[in-house]
Amino acid sequence: MCGIIAYAGNKPAANVVLEGLKKLEYRGYDSWGIVALADKAENAERPFYVIKRVGKIGGINWDYVSEAIRGESHVAVGHTRWSTHGGVTEQNAHPHLDCSGKIAVVHNGIVDNHQEIRAGLGSHRFLSQTDTEVIPHLIEELMSKEELDFIAAVRKAASTLKGRSAFVAINSETRQMAAARKGTPLIIGLHENSNEEFFIASDVTAFLDYTNKVMYIDDNEMAVVDGGGIAFSSLTSGNELKKRVVEIHWHVGSAEKDGYDHFLIKEVMEQKHTIAAAINQDDAKILAVANDVKSAFGTFFVGCGTAGKTCMVAEYLFSKISGKHINSVVASEFSNYQHYLTPKTLMIAVSQSGETADVLEAIDVAKSKNVRVVSLLNVFGSTMMRASDDFFMVNAGAERAVVSTKATTAQIAVLTLLAYATAGKLQEGKLLLMNAASAVNDMLNPRYEERIKKLALQLVDKKDVFIIGRGLNYPIALEAAIKLQETCYTHAQGFAGGELKHGPLALIEDGTACIAIVANDETKQDMISNAAEVKARGGYIIGIAPENNEVFDYWLKVPDVGNASPIVNIIPVQILAYHIAVLRGINPDYPRNLAKVCTTK
Ligand code: M6R
Repeated sequence: MCGIIAYAGNKPAANVVLEGLKKLEYRGYDSWGIVALADKAENAERPFYVIKRVGKIGGINWDYVSEAIRGESHVAVGHTRWSTHGGVTEQNAHPHLDCSGKIAVVHNGIVDNHQEIRAGLGSHRFLSQTDTEVIPHLIEELMSKEELDFIAAVRKAASTLKGRSAFVAINSETRQMAAARKGTPLIIGLHENSNEEFFIASDVTAFLDYTNKVMYIDDNEMAVVDGGGIAFSSLTSGNELKKRVVEIHWHVGSAEKDGYDHFLIKEVMEQKHTIAAAINQDDAKILAVANDVKSAFGTFFVGCGTAGKTCMVAEYLFSKISGKHINSVVASEFSNYQHYLTPKTLMIAVSQSGETADVLEAIDVAKSKNVRVVSLLNVFGSTMMRASDDFFMVNAGAERAVVSTKATTAQIAVLTLLAYATAGKLQEGKLLLMNAASAVNDMLNPRYEERIKKLALQLVDKKDVFIIGRGLNYPIALEAAIKLQETCYTHAQGFAGGELKHGPLALIEDGTACIAIVANDETKQDMISNAAEVKARGGYIIGIAPENNEVFDYWLKVPDVGNASPIVNIIPVQILAYHIAVLRGINPDYPRNLAKVCTTK
């Protein structure tokens, strides 16, 4: 979703910001903008240079930006916008300015009470339909009507906003940059031993090329950068706050496609190594969390989208491997379970980004009931990491495609390990997963991809695809549907194999494509029968299974890896969705309407 990168220092600021915006592209956006504060303004009435564009940054480079900036600038802020309020237009792109043109603001999140604020700013001239635009006008209003200085006005404006958000405001007269956080992340980067160069970003990837020294702005806090350095304070009391400098040792992963056409297929192929990296966990930590699960009175695995499906896989894994009942809950629904929560409950929050608003809200609900929260994450230093009592990483490396692939299988691997640890069989689990990791390594070869490409050619004109699975692979059928929906815009639906006859079977016609995920486990025979029921009604059966079967019209072989089957079974669908997207001329890295990091509810 929206991304922010701000810079103040001795480098050409707009250039640093442009490069930072390119690093934030993976979050998903539909328009972008940069505001640079001119070192020497052409005239006092025009202190900012502003660029706003609809669409992707693409090949835009420094020459283009410097032409727009025209003069030198050492303070600039950039923004990628994922529209919530107001269409995708240049006017709605950030930054937004106040009436005087002296205060510029970029913003992430949603101002829930923007209509009310706008109504109170009757005399101000609004140029966009966004919720964000109320912020610069409110700051202006507070400075003029209440005679507050810029910092006090930013503090009061931020305190007035309802909902989860964060913004950065620049005042051209005082040459100050203020950042306020209320529920959406903002991180400060500091250059080596320097008090003269600062970055402010919604995630560290925007500035990790320059520095790994960071300071976190926490909720209801603000930071001000000016000629005197940086100062932190509370949004509520105004009291000054001391902050620690933290060094981030996190390998973001290559920002390049390494010869692949898209990040998505590169990340799919990286699964040759990421499963092994995921299970490379500290035994003591896995055992400690396993003990948490054993001693908890109620455990909830909580996530959204694909992470929600890996939580569902965990529910089956814990039942099958450790005989332990755990609950998987979609994060946006978690508050409905709050009546069951006690200090003995355990929450395991699963998230690639660690920034998903729905999961953060669920954590807030859990915390309000004194529930212990352990997170399973891929992005180090994320908000969820710091909001949890404990965390562990899935070590998949940066995932840049919006569509989650390698983080998904890494999550399933760690959750499988945890289920085995809970059963007192950690070593057995490790062996199983090491075998699965090496099987994935063998499976991801060019011949395998070719076979899936052939299937993609057959499916390219199909509007609907159904996917069925049972047991551990029922959630994988649901996940497979997400992959096809978001990557190649196929109408795909996943079902438990036994559910078709209760309704969806009516949708099967001659040639309807149905993917049957048939694991070599206790669900196999029933799955074959369910596939046969579809075939008998004209369905075209694509079997994902270790062994071929006469019911399959097209067979995608997967290795037989026992209880690690969810890991290997999703991979062919990831590749299939990718190739259908390419055949349809869809950019699989940036699906329409979606964002990598969902920071709004
Ligand atoms: O960063 P998170 O894992 O919390 O993200 C959760 C979902 O938004 C994410 O899995 C989404 O469903 C992806 N587009 C799936 O590929």
